[in-house]
Amino acid sequence: MLTDGPPPGVHAAWLPAEAFHAVGSRRVMVHGAGSLVDTVREEVVAACARHGGRLGGRGRGADLVLALRGVGPPPVPAARAALARAQGVAGDGLGGEGFLLVRADGVTVVLADAPAGLLYGLFYVVRLGEAAFTGDLPVARHRPATALRMLDHWDNVDVHPVMGQVERGYAGGSIFWRAGAARGDTARVRAYGRLLAACGVNAVAVNNVNVHATEARLLTDRLGEVAAIADVLRPYGVRVHLSVGFASSVALGGLPTADPADERVRAWWAATTRAVYALIPDFGGYVVKADSEGQPGPFAYGRDHADGANVLAEALAPHGGVVHWRAFVYDHRQDWRDRSTDRARAAYDHFAPLDGRFRDNVVLQVKCGPIDFQAREPVSPVIAAMPATRVAVEVQVTQEYTGQQRHVCYLGPCWSEVLRFAPWGPDGPTVAAITARGGLVGVSNVGDDPFWTGHPLAQANLYAFGRLAWDPTLAPRTVLDEWISLTFPPGTTAHPALVRRTLHEVMDDSWRTYERYTAPLGVGFMVRPGDHYGPDVDGYEYTPWGTYHFADRDGVGVDRTRATGTGFTGQYPEPWREVYESRERCPDELLLFFHHVPYGHVLHSGSTVIQHIYDTHFAGVAEVEATCRRWRRLSGLVDPVLHARVTERLAEQVRCAREWRDQVNAYFHRKSGVPDAGGRQIH
Ligand code: GCU
Repeated sequence: MLTDGPPPGVHAAWLPAEAFHAVGSRRVMVHGAGSLVDTVREEVVAACARHGGRLGGRGRGADLVLALRGVGPPPVPAARAALARAQGVAGDGLGGEGFLLVRADGVTVVLADAPAGLLYGLFYVVRLGEAAFTGDLPVARHRPATALRMLDHWDNVDVHPVMGQVERGYAGGSIFWRAGAARGDTARVRAYGRLLAACGVNAVAVNNVNVHATEARLLTDRLGEVAAIADVLRPYGVRVHLSVGFASSVALGGLPTADPADERVRAWWAATTRAVYALIPDFGGYVVKADSEGQPGPFAYGRDHADGANVLAEALAPHGGVVHWRAFVYDHRQDWRDRSTDRARAAYDHFAPLDGRFRDNVVLQVKCGPIDFQAREPVSPVIAAMPATRVAVEVQVTQEYTGQQRHVCYLGPCWSEVLRFAPWGPDGPTVAAITARGGLVGVSNVGDDPFWTGHPLAQANLYAFGRLAWDPTLAPRTVLDEWISLTFPPGTTAHPALVRRTLHEVMDDSWRTYERYTAPLGVGFMVRPGDHYGPDVDGYEYTPWGTYHFADRDGVGVDRTRATGTGFTGQYPEPWREVYESRERCPDELLLFFHHVPYGHVLHSGSTVIQHIYDTHFAGVAEVEATCRRWRRLSGLVDPVLHARVTERLAEQVRCAREWRDQVNAYFHRKSGVPDAGGRQIH
């Protein structure tokens, strides 16, 4: 089998053979050695075999040179000249993954200090297509904004009785595990690694953060199955991480305790981790969900999260590994009558006091918002609260709360807002800058579905995750445009411009559309309890989960102010603590997250809250209906199987969006008694 494609029957996503046309029809020279350089060579050989180019050798000309610095001059005169020029501008430090692109005398040169840089450079040239080989290109240095760009798979080894093979998975089974065993589907995992490298992801956690009995054993007697995955992903620069249970020393080690202060526990983690590295020398590290939603943690021993994280970090440190310690800690057995407990406060209250206590190789993994991946939340205040800690932001690529890959919901704009948010105001650092030492983590949306992500257009979320992790300053629209060019190459359709325009129309604003027809103004959690799909306005209102909207006949929203509410606004630095505290200054889209207001409260938009609810719900559904009409235009212009899959999902999206509209509108109409100014039908 050629290395340059997915297994039979699996969609090529953003790496169809046609995407390699520009590179594969050129004379290419790869200069350097190392296993990732071999991958680059294999990619080039496969592309050239398809498109008529060739991998250059001694004495021949070259159009593209991919060269490692410091391995001596390449044996082609034109390439030598370009290389000399490139070296002149490279200066120091392209880093372990960076590269430099220069074009001189008709030769395009990618220069890197390390093999991974060449691989990323190759995929960059693939993205550029013909533009990489025409005219002048500005000399450009490319380095990732952060070294940790990781996907967490919530994949179970056993099929969980409630959550299934993949927790919150909407794309079939797991590509790694099936019914208790490793699948050993090398071709699929390899194709996955290739897709990840092509968008910039370099780490994968292969099992669910909720570590059940079978999955726990991946750390010890089933480690070989993890090593096998690592072997397949390694040629694409992707390291493997493992979710582990905090109480593993008890569950697996036979010790009577998991107390991090106990010498036997420390020794067990040290020995176990040594064994991991003996088998997987480039193992990335552990992911831990502790004292969260029933998972064991240090609280049982009267220790705090720093004590807990540090014992694992100490075991990993000699080998260069990291612990991703999740900050998703809150009371999931709250009494709904207790108005003083606010789930939004929990992560900050637990973790901010621990700043400075974590070892260097602990990465505190913080969900992007204070609650749980709702379509709209403020940025978590924890991110700005821990300057002495490496903080990673966690986003949810899998669409648990954003339509479960049945709805089109391009999340690039949502993540971009998070990464660009400046907690200390416009002159201060952004979230992307604060978290550069910690990284970006995404909960994977991938499964064994032929389209990888269930909804074919959800592939764009995976792609955008990688690209924004690499460069958080990219505009989401630009990222989508890249994805369109690669996934639907111009040469494969009769009307490339129409395809491109339609995909932008369907996807650019789809996250805001989703927001419009679901929970209003940042209040969140009006989903059906359990599976979290579809509307159930009061579904969580009287539950222990801490996710309430407090709607009554007069108003709606959660008072999180310092003046009269839970005080959550006080977890933000200036200026946001004052902006969010004030009903007048709080951004409309977050009003009900921070304030309980009367239905007649007038928004910045000029509309009242109740009229806004009606208007956005009617508008959101109308947008989905327009999306369906637009998608029909592409019939016959894109892969018919893909077209049919999207059509089928759109029908469900329209049905579900109408259900949301009607339930939310009816609910608030009945509560408030306020008629719709537009006189539209409310049931
Ligand atoms: C959500 C999700 C769970 C998941 C949890 C987590 O609550 O519904 O399935 O385990 O997040 O992030 O740990």
